[in-house]
Amino acid sequence: MPQTYTADADPRRVAESLTREQKARLVTGETFWETADVPEAGIPRITMTDGPHGLRKQGADGGDHLGLAQSVAATCFPPAVGLGSSFDPELTQRVGAAIAEEARAEGVSLLLGPGMNIKRSPLCGRNFEYFSEDPLVSGTMAAAMVTGIQSRGVGACVKHFAANNQETDRMRVSADIDERPLREIYLRGFEQAITGAQPDAVMCAYNRINGTYAAEDRWLLTEVLREQWGFEGMVVSDWFAVGDRVASLKAGLDLEMPTTDGRSSAQVLAALEEGSLEEADLDAAVINVLRLVQRRHLQASDSSAPDFDEHHDLAEEAALRSAVLLKNDGDLLPLSRTAKVALIGEFASIPRYQGAGSSHINPTRLDSAREALAALAEGELRFAPGFPLEEPAAEAARQEAEQLREEAVQAAAVSEVAVLFLGLPDVEESEGFDREHMDLPRVQLDLLEAVVRANPNTVVVLSNGGAVLLPFRDRVPAILEAWLLGQAGGSALADLLYGLESPSGRLTETIPLRLQDVPSWDSFPGEHGHVRYGEGVFVGYRGYDHRQTEVAYPFGHGLTYTSFEYSGLEAAVAGETLEVRLRVRNVGGRDGLEVVQVYAGREQSAVSRAPRELVGFVPVEVRAGELAEVSVEVPLNRLSHWDVRQGRWVIEPGQWLLRAGASSRDVRLSATVEVEGDHAEPPLTQRSTLGDALVHPAVGQEVRRIVQDAVAGQEGAFSAEGMLRMLESFPLGRLSLFPGAGLDEEQVENLIRRSS
Ligand code: BGC
Repeated sequence: MPQTYTADADPRRVAESLTREQKARLVTGETFWETADVPEAGIPRITMTDGPHGLRKQGADGGDHLGLAQSVAATCFPPAVGLGSSFDPELTQRVGAAIAEEARAEGVSLLLGPGMNIKRSPLCGRNFEYFSEDPLVSGTMAAAMVTGIQSRGVGACVKHFAANNQETDRMRVSADIDERPLREIYLRGFEQAITGAQPDAVMCAYNRINGTYAAEDRWLLTEVLREQWGFEGMVVSDWFAVGDRVASLKAGLDLEMPTTDGRSSAQVLAALEEGSLEEADLDAAVINVLRLVQRRHLQASDSSAPDFDEHHDLAEEAALRSAVLLKNDGDLLPLSRTAKVALIGEFASIPRYQGAGSSHINPTRLDSAREALAALAEGELRFAPGFPLEEPAAEAARQEAEQLREEAVQAAAVSEVAVLFLGLPDVEESEGFDREHMDLPRVQLDLLEAVVRANPNTVVVLSNGGAVLLPFRDRVPAILEAWLLGQAGGSALADLLYGLESPSGRLTETIPLRLQDVPSWDSFPGEHGHVRYGEGVFVGYRGYDHRQTEVAYPFGHGLTYTSFEYSGLEAAVAGETLEVRLRVRNVGGRDGLEVVQVYAGREQSAVSRAPRELVGFVPVEVRAGELAEVSVEVPLNRLSHWDVRQGRWVIEPGQWLLRAGASSRDVRLSATVEVEGDHAEPPLTQRSTLGDALVHPAVGQEVRRIVQDAVAGQEGAFSAEGMLRMLESFPLGRLSLFPGAGLDEEQVENLIRRSS
């Protein structure tokens, strides 16, 4: 007799009471969006849906995972590319809560978001769904989103775990990554979100990592996720990611989605029968599924209707915080309300506000910038579409494009200022494929040149989910990077352009000068089923800064309608935290928001590392003329690197350089701080080099003295220091044979013993 399931039943006991058939059913979806129920045992089904920046709820069976079928109307918040630019976890948390309220009202128990993969290349077709090229920004924002979603009784699911950094060949490609970049760049944000916010679920990625499918990767799904990070939730597959259900169960993948119409259950039962699968592995998965069902099963009476107007306002607030003012020469922005303005570009009237694929929301409303600007304008506002949304191929289309350009140029010529909305067409950015270049369409670039010639007072407003090259940046005085801003983006842009609000977004990814400068350029997207992450830890700004490559706009950059002065940087270690304090004064005439960024680096390091790595950030609102005391708490472990020899995080002891500034390249203040760090070096062996022995905390000084003394008497062609350097690569075991090195076999053994 199966134990009847109740809200407070122990999932272990419930699992024990189920038959093998019932258990095998529970670990694969029943429909496209639902888990299986077991009515005989009183176990209900729960519903999950996409997606990161709004609710995409389709019918249970009429679903798809590419956003093709219509979903219920829901608020479309700015996708992660926008929201991330706010650098504001508190705002992100509120957005998460609002999405969850809408999910709850639709009976959705688990939201398939946030997406938090690292933007390894600007070409990744799904970058609009991800926060940043930096793991701290990704991890902080994702954790905030999870906290917000779960605060409303709906589960969150971080995705795609892990190293899903491209769409090309996404269901098979092996991301071949060395352990340091894997830990420090690609897993670190996940670790932060998972340990910090405890999402109910983690979605495994489609791709392989170093040859193993994420769905079948026991190291990833069990050793790292559960044993090292202490994850206690459920692992769900990405849709159709499971190739071998039995292998994935053994690896720790609890729930396969979507339904396989009984095929997987049959495989699981057969494997149990023939002994190639332990029942304990199945039970572990069943328990994790049941725990989620139990925690998040929603009763019809659980929810109240969401306030869509309030959510639209929140979407507008988020959009206001998402746009990044890249350039504003001569304070061309904000515009005067009475200015005579030429508003050019289709995107002002037909907004590009989200990307294509499984995150595609059916919005409750849609604001256009054209209408919002018209409502605020007190001077003449002329609109011209400027360019066709599709690149003109045929002669007739080319003529039409020319005519559109001509009209736009005329409007610009007779206006005080031209506001030019450019961007990537819908078809260029989507889940499922990557871009091949970073250029805006030719027809738009040609229009821009013509408009600037007619009126140099041109403001460019960009709508794009992935970064684009800005070859015109020296020829236009103002550029507002508006990314994709969700359904209220149009109103937000009007407020920003007319100065009712000030821009405050900062770049979460570097905008390079050329695609070839991108650190991952020569190994993206790989070939024959493999992509080698050849740039190692030097991803995004870490790579550009390391190589001192000139960029168009650096990571962290963003202007506003005022400016800030930094002073008084102090840093001190208190327990496990680095306390950083400084003052920021608003020295302009308007209130504004600064995102204070703290970077850490070292003069010398035992491992190759970027000159500056973001270790803390905080958005601060400062009124015109006022001074804000800013404090940034940096957990010391943010200074750690992954020691591949010991398989653990290590903080290098000694002096660390801290920089506070307004971007990775706009360092305003520096300070040094002494950090005790981890002195634990691995024990020496016969194969350790003299170099290893020289820096070993237990015996290093002694070794130096012995060898230095020994070689000092033999200075000839080499100085003692030169000899020492030459011998550094000698293994200890062989050094004892080297004449005149001063170490015999017994001494070496003694040193080895004392090093452990
Ligand atoms: C995407 C996931 C999404 C799932 C369900 C997949 O193709 O990669 O992000 O949650 O479909 O729509």
